[in-house]
Amino acid sequence: MHFSHFLLGFVASASAIDVYFHNSGDCSGAASVCTGINPNVCCTGNSPTIAYRGVPTNWNINAQGFSGGGCASPQWPASSVGKIECMTVNSRDNYTGSRYAFASHQHAEDTCSSCTEPVKPGTLVLADGITKYDIVGLDDVKVEELLIITDSGVGPEGIPKKFQVRRK
Ligand SMILES: *[C@@H]1O[C@H](CO)[C@@H](O)[C@H](O)[C@H]1NC(C)=O
Repeated sequence: MHFSHFLLGFVASASAIDVYFHNSGDCSGAASVCTGINPNVCCTGNSPTIAYRGVPTNWNINAQGFSGGGCASPQWPASSVGKIECMTVNSRDNYTGSRYAFASHQHAEDTCSSCTEPVKPGTLVLADGITKYDIVGLDDVKVEELLIITDSGVGPEGIPKKFQVRRK
């Protein structure tokens, strides 16, 4: 009974964790975001900082940041209860991917037998933290173009028309 309640709770809240790849060195500003990411799913990106947001406050998770392309080594750990505010590369190469696991179940650095194909961020959020664009299916070159524009901290008025149709 307890177990099934745990599972229900898990399913109900699992969609809360969002992984933000921030273009800045301190997890501020614009970001590409994997929304509602489940454990053991690699979110890919290319940035010097990663924040995990929306982690339920009583969840003890281990996250890994990877720099070898997607979730390929080398990797660096971060763990926290309730949040992972900001993982920074300092002077290392950008993070190219990240995933997490529950501290009680598995260390994220273990061979990830249950891992699925990496996923790309589906959302781009501007520096205001509010304005969002759907980047699902947008090709990598265009995503890169949009990221360069958003790096400067522009608001929605600074986004070219061709991307405005993707505003959420
Ligand atoms: C690292 O990330 C920053 C911010 O997203 C980007 O401008 C830069 O080009 C990236 N560096 C490499 C080597 O990809």
